[in-house]
Amino acid sequence: MAILKIARMGHPVLRRPAETVADPTAPEVARIAADMIETMFDAVGVGLAAPQVHFGKRIVVFHVPKGRAGNPEGVPDEGDGPVGLTVLINPLIEPLDDAMEEGWEACLSVPGLTGLVPRHRRIRYRAVNPRGEPIERIAEGFHARVVQHECDHLDGILYPQRMTDMRELAYVEELRRYPPGGVERS
Ligand code: NI
Repeated sequence: MAILKIARMGHPVLRRPAETVADPTAPEVARIAADMIETMFDAVGVGLAAPQVHFGKRIVVFHVPKGRAGNPEGVPDEGDGPVGLTVLINPLIEPLDDAMEEGWEACLSVPGLTGLVPRHRRIRYRAVNPRGEPIERIAEGFHARVVQHECDHLDGILYPQRMTDMRELAYVEELRRYPPGGVERS
């Protein structure tokens, strides 16, 4: 296992659509997935897509820790509980309805920044794992958001390109000093 270098916004690898994995059970796939998991934990992220580590294939790793699951009232919705470490190969996303939801996102390829991004609230996603077994899940809320964010990387899209109001792009450090809604107005 190895900790890999993470590409940052501006690197062409983040703009190129990733290629389909021909053989999800190839040892090379298991190896890169293991390295991606190690890299994600080292960088304290909840997800990582292969192009972010300079590997242009359709592979995503993610998890939803307990503290991040559920809506702001702390009530877990269906499909929005904690999710264990998951490897998705050749994932496909299908929105389940037209409902969108805004939420703050950050990205290991866009260090220091955070932005308010609209995402589909409920999705179904399908993929295979490195053993070649199918995965099919319904996801909501943060779980759905993470999967949409990571799968966007496979199409060369970073979260700022999904934002509808660029005034909501900020440095995490500054947002901590001046929380949204807490700004004094005169
Ligand atoms: Ni990202």
